[in-house]
Amino acid sequence: MKRFENKNVLVTGAGSGIGRAAAQRIAAEGGRVLCADINAKGIDAVVAEIAEAGGSAEAMVFDLSREGDAERSVAKVREWGQLDAVVNMAGILRFANAHETPLDVWQQIINVNLTGTFMLCKAALPSLIESKGALINAASTASLKGLPWGVAYGASKGGVLALTRSIAVEYAKRGVRANCVCPGDIQTGMVDGLAFPDDADFSLLSRITSLSGAKGPDVVAGVIAMLASDDGTHINGEEIRVDGGMLA
Ligand SMILES: NC(=O)c1ccc[n+]([C@@H]2O[C@H](COP(=O)([O-])OP(=O)(O)OC[C@H]3O[C@@H](n4cnc5c(N)ncnc54)[C@H](O)[C@@H]3O)[C@@H](O)[C@H]2O)c1
Repeated sequence: MKRFENKNVLVTGAGSGIGRAAAQRIAAEGGRVLCADINAKGIDAVVAEIAEAGGSAEAMVFDLSREGDAERSVAKVREWGQLDAVVNMAGILRFANAHETPLDVWQQIINVNLTGTFMLCKAALPSLIESKGALINAASTASLKGLPWGVAYGASKGGVLALTRSIAVEYAKRGVRANCVCPGDIQTGMVDGLAFPDDADFSLLSRITSLSGAKGPDVVAGVIAMLASDDGTHINGEEIRVDGGMLA
């Protein structure tokens, strides 16, 4: 399948995990991909892998939470032509008991996951109106159900879902589609490095564990590619859980 031939796609969080898998999938299907991430090493590696596989990609070091970086990333893609899709997967997670979550941790998570997503959507929308393009944001199972030890993360991802639905409704008549993926139990750097509170009640872990076992990021990349392509033409304002039945 070459669903992204002659299409330019911006992928954030492309240096690792789901963003990386999405960048590879879209490039494999013919898309030209701007791989944006705060982790320079990660995006250099993914761009090299895409080139080796015969695809087309460039790296941009980018901080989703920094004002101006979103415009810079959109402008870079516009040097190639139109911006056909934005896949916004950059995000952070820290666990802490709600009553012990430091304000600076709360603010950092909200700044990256929610305010950063808003800034990127704002910067990309004029170009997506022109291209009648697609926007895919990273929500979470935590957007839909309570996440123990994740008060800031859950609030940020609930916000991402609400923000995305607002955009879907506001821009539908102008041809833009905005959707979320809600991954759950995907084995990536984000979950590998997670530290739990010392007194964590591990019986609550079932709330963040899928019924069919953890899966790699490719299972989400396939859904993202569908949403970003013409296969998703009549899907707008949707949240698609990719969680192995966790919330079923
Ligand atoms: N893994 C899961 O089970 C899961 C579940 C629900 C939601 N998600 C969401 O999916 C998205 C991708 O997560 P992942 O599991 O691939 O994690 P990951 O840690 O492997 O990838 C996240 C990427 O975002 C980048 N990033 C972090 N802060 C950034 C910033 N300020 N600016 C630019 N880039 C930044 C990181 O460098 C990293 O490359 C995230 O938004 C995450 O919240 C993941």
